[in-house]
Amino acid sequence: MKKTFKMTPVSMAVAAAFVGVTAISAPVLAEKLANPIVLAAANPCAAKNPCAAKNPCAAKNPCAAGGITVESITRPEGVKAYEGDKNELLAYGAKLWEDKSISSNGLSCATCHTGYNTLSASFALPYPHKISMVKAQIGVDLMVDAEQIVQFCMMSPMAAEPFAWDSKELAALTTFVTEFQKGYKPK
Ligand code: HEC
Repeated sequence: MKKTFKMTPVSMAVAAAFVGVTAISAPVLAEKLANPIVLAAANPCAAKNPCAAKNPCAAKNPCAAGGITVESITRPEGVKAYEGDKNELLAYGAKLWEDKSISSNGLSCATCHTGYNTLSASFALPYPHKISMVKAQIGVDLMVDAEQIVQFCMMSPMAAEPFAWDSKELAALTTFVTEFQKGYKPK
């Protein structure tokens, strides 16, 4: 029996994480997923599922059950962002980008996004902008800022707690992401 997989950017990213490949094109990944042997390795229901919050196999979207709400990615009123030297934040952000210990599932931001992987055309737009994954998972087509997508990716694909809104970590990754964005050209 042939398994059919509905590929969403999220399932592709998750699958990419499982097949242990960071630089992979959608058609190549789809081909790998069509192969039952690789499919077993790429099983989104395996123990190390980055979106394991609830039952990852219940929903069409493996990350859909994460319980992320508009509130959880909204800066609380009166809480200011950490401010510091831009170069220092950038260097710290670059370090965090590679840091697998900030997730609960062994992934780092770089696992999915090195070489501008797992990003689509919206990443070329100035922030804030709409991001299809955010809409798909929380059901609201929000205008999303850079710090909000950092928090979202922390909670969803990284299966971790979001950063404190006044933390140096959030400021650093946000600074890094906006710098990283400058080199992005939609494929
Ligand atoms: C398991 C893979 C995965 C991991 C790990 C991951 N992300 Fe993402 N990220 C995604 C997916 C999927 C999207 C949505 C791409 C789309 O639909 O455009 C995304 C989108 C983004 C975007 C851009 C959205 C836009 O269009 O403006 C940024 C920035 C981003 N992630 C940052 C991060 C950061 C920072 C981390 C680490 C804290 C991280 N990601 C970890 C999968 C991942």
